[in-house]
Amino acid sequence: KLNKSPDKNVVLVGPMGAGKTTIGKLLAKELGFQFTDSDKVIEQRCGADIPWIFDVEGEAGFRGREKAVIQELGEQSGLVIATGGGAVLDPDNQLNLKEKGIVVYLKTSVAQQYERTFRDKNRPLLQTDNPLAVLSALFEKRDPIYSHLADIVVKTDKKNPKSVVKYIVSKL
Ligand code: S3P
Repeated sequence: KLNKSPDKNVVLVGPMGAGKTTIGKLLAKELGFQFTDSDKVIEQRCGADIPWIFDVEGEAGFRGREKAVIQELGEQSGLVIATGGGAVLDPDNQLNLKEKGIVVYLKTSVAQQYERTFRDKNRPLLQTDNPLAVLSALFEKRDPIYSHLADIVVKTDKKNPKSVVKYIVSKL
């Protein structure tokens, strides 16, 4: 059992549409931690939104910005950090998040990811003819990484956010 303490962070990982932002905000409130969303911090630093960054700088440009922000957040404590779905692919990011972070994987089916993201124009990787196929391919590749990194795994399909938060708190 992990002890919750303010010199730690809680890091939420998982795919687009897993509920990292929704769960993260509630969890932060519950723990008295500060909520932060790596995508939002990237946008603030850059002064532009994620679609713009992908457009102008490509995914590589975005990943560079993401890496800098993850490093910065990893140095702080008392945070609940919602990460972008691709943030944990980079080995340096993994180390920076793991150092003080208790990693929670919000495990979600591809169908549920799709249901939660198909209306959204803010995710450049999904602006294709077949977003379901993209989500499916990303899941194949990333699910083993999320699972490997996680201290806690919680399924978020068809569960209300409050019960997900309750489960996470019981495991911390
Ligand atoms: C991405 C997920 C997004 C965002 C960017 C790339 C990914 O974050 O970082 O569009 O590679 O899966 P969310 O998981 O918060 O949607």
